Amino acid sequence: MSKYILIIGACGQIGTELTLTLREKHGGEHIIASDIREGNDELMQSGPFEILDATNYDALEEVIAYYGISEVYLMAAMLSATAEKFPMRAWNLNMNTLFNVLNLAKDKKIEKIFWPSSIAVFGPNTPKEDTPQNTIMEPSTVYGISKQSGERWCEYYFNKFNVDVRSIRYPGLISWKTMPGGGTTDYAVEIYHKALTEGSYNCFLEEDTKLPMMFMDDAIRATLQIMEAPEENIKERSAYNLAAMSFTPKEMAENIKAVLPKFKITYEPDFRQEIANSWPSSIDDTTAQNDWGWNAEFDLKKTTQVMLENLKK
Ligand SMILES: NC(=O)c1ccc[n+]([C@@H]2O[C@H](COP(=O)([O-])OP(=O)(O)OC[C@H]3O[C@@H](n4cnc5c(N)ncnc54)[C@H](O)[C@@H]3O)[C@@H](O)[C@H]2O)c1
Repeated sequence: MSKYILIIGACGQIGTELTLTLREKHGGEHIIASDIREGNDELMQSGPFEILDATNYDALEEVIAYYGISEVYLMAAMLSATAEKFPMRAWNLNMNTLFNVLNLAKDKKIEKIFWPSSIAVFGPNTPKEDTPQNTIMEPSTVYGISKQSGERWCEYYFNKFNVDVRSIRYPGLISWKTMPGGGTTDYAVEIYHKALTEGSYNCFLEEDTKLPMMFMDDAIRATLQIMEAPEENIKERSAYNLAAMSFTPKEMAENIKAVLPKFKITYEPDFRQEIANSWPSSIDDTTAQNDWGWNAEFDLKKTTQVMLENLKK
C-alpha cells in the first residue's frame, strides 16, 4: 500500500487505538499520528508523530504536503461534558478543524476524510427507543449542536464539491487502553477501573439512565469498514447510526458483580445527568447494516470480561 494517512487527535481515547490498528494493517511508517500533546509509549514508538494544532490551516496543510497524505481521520474535538463548560472553545475547535479538513479535500489536497459524529446529534424530542437514521434531531447540548452542524456541512461538501467524507454517530465508547476525554458516557469506563482498585464506584448518572454504548474494538472495526467500503455504498453523507448495546449503570454494576461479587455502586448524579436525559436509549442502525455490512460483536457481558481481564494486568 502506498497511501499515507493522517490521524488528527491521535492521542485520545479513539485516536490511540485507531492509529495502532491502522499501523498494524498498513505498516507504521504510513500512518502519521498527530495531536497537540504526546500520546502513550506504544503510539509514540510505532510510527511518525507530529505536534499539530488542527485549527491552524497552514500547519495542517504543511504536514499533509510533507508526508503526501491522501486520507485524514479527524478525531480532535471537545466532548460533551467539557463542551458545556467551555461552549465557545468547543464550537471553535469542533467546527474549525472540520472546515480545515473539508476545505483541503475541496481543493484536492486530500482524497478522503473520516469525521466522527455522535448520538449527541439527537435531542429531547427525538424518539428515545430504536432511534431511526432519519428523525427529529434538535440537540440541546453545545457538543450536539456542533456535531449536527458538522453533519450538515459534510453532506453539503459532498453534494457541492464531491468531497468523499464518511461519518458514524458513535455511541458511548468503552475501552481499556486510553481513558475517555470528558464525555457523558465516561462512567462506563471509570466503573471498571474503580471496581478493580477500590471495589466501589460513585456514579455521576442515575441508576436507570439507559444509553447506547459500544466496545472500542467494534468502533474501530466500524471505522475501518466504512472507510474501506466502495464509494457507491456510502449513501448517507451526513452520518450513519451505529449500535451495539444499550444498558443502565445498574445493569452494568450487576454485570460487574457477577465477576466481582463484592463490588458496590452508589449514585450521585451531576450536570451530566441532564445531557444523558436528552440522548436516545437505543439506536436503530439498519441503514449501516444494509449499506456497508455493519454488525456489532461485543455485548455487555463480553465487554466486562475483556475490560476486567486487561485492566487487571
Ligand atoms: N469517546 C466517545 O465515547 C465518543 C462518542 C461519540 C463521538 N466521539 C467523537 O470521536 C472523536 C474522538 O473522540 P475521543 O473520545 O477519542 O476524544 P478525546 O478527547 O479522548 O481525544 C481527542 C484528542 O484531540 C486532541 N486535540 C484537542 N484539540 C486539538 C487540536 N486543536 N488539534 C489537534 N488535536 C487536538 C486532544 O489532545 C485529544 O488527544 C471526537 O470527534 C468525538 O466527538 C467520541
